[in-house]
Amino acid sequence: MFSSAALPTATAYADRLATDGVVRGLIGPREAPRLWDRHLLNCAVLAELVPQDASLVDIGSGAGLPGLVLAIARSDVQVTLVEPLLRRTTFLSEVVDDLSLGNVEVVRGRADQLHGERTFDVVTSRAVAPLERLLDWSMPLVSPTGALVAMKGSSVLEEVEAAREALDRWRCAEPEVSVLGEGVLSSTTVALRVVWAEPTQVSWPLAPKSAPKSAPQSPGRSRRKPRRTQRRQDT
Ligand SMILES: C[S@@+](CC[C@H](N)C(=O)[O-])C[C@H]1O[C@@H](n2cnc3c(N)ncnc32)[C@H](O)[C@@H]1O
Repeated sequence: MFSSAALPTATAYADRLATDGVVRGLIGPREAPRLWDRHLLNCAVLAELVPQDASLVDIGSGAGLPGLVLAIARSDVQVTLVEPLLRRTTFLSEVVDDLSLGNVEVVRGRADQLHGERTFDVVTSRAVAPLERLLDWSMPLVSPTGALVAMKGSSVLEEVEAAREALDRWRCAEPEVSVLGEGVLSSTTVALRVVWAEPTQVSWPLAPKSAPKSAPQSPGRSRRKPRRTQRRQDT
């Protein structure tokens, strides 16, 4: 999953998670012994759903999962990590600097703050929100030929059924579920991929058929620009 060139960087990231990440409360202490199995490798398998030279945004990146792992595994991909919490973006920026990851940008903000400003080939997330809310946050960031790729649990099909109204409102094609890492990982990764039903009809600003309560394009709502993080930021 990591080339021989990328493996030392992945190992250095795992070390940072196990040390700084735990001390700074970004990773639970019980996760440290199973970082590779449950976190790095589980995230790295998503790479097979990411096209060559893609632009990718990882929303709610936390300590960098899965976005930072994908950036390490795939140096051809330009990765934007979006995370609202300063403590987490500070950690992310430090890791990106220390590991000299030239293909990663860290943005402090909520996903919806990028709506109408940026679009990407792939919009990833893990453990961020139920599918319905995730669609509202992610689909405005998906380019016409792009895809939402979310890591989900074993109840993914129930989530899809619960999100039927939102899938229809955003005019999405039928979602595809993939089980990744079979025969390789001790616990497989369930990935949900959602694309536009009619890519040629997608244009911005996006207007879903009936705007969700949190719709960023609803009339009168001001759009705040996200902040790029810096190494030393006030709290
Ligand atoms: C449970 S954590 C998951 C972190 C990471 N993806 C992982 O799997 O370890 C959820 C993350 O989503 C972030 N988050 C919450 N609301 C968000 C929003 N509207 N836009 C972007 N990120 C958000 C939180 O700050 C938090 O870091």
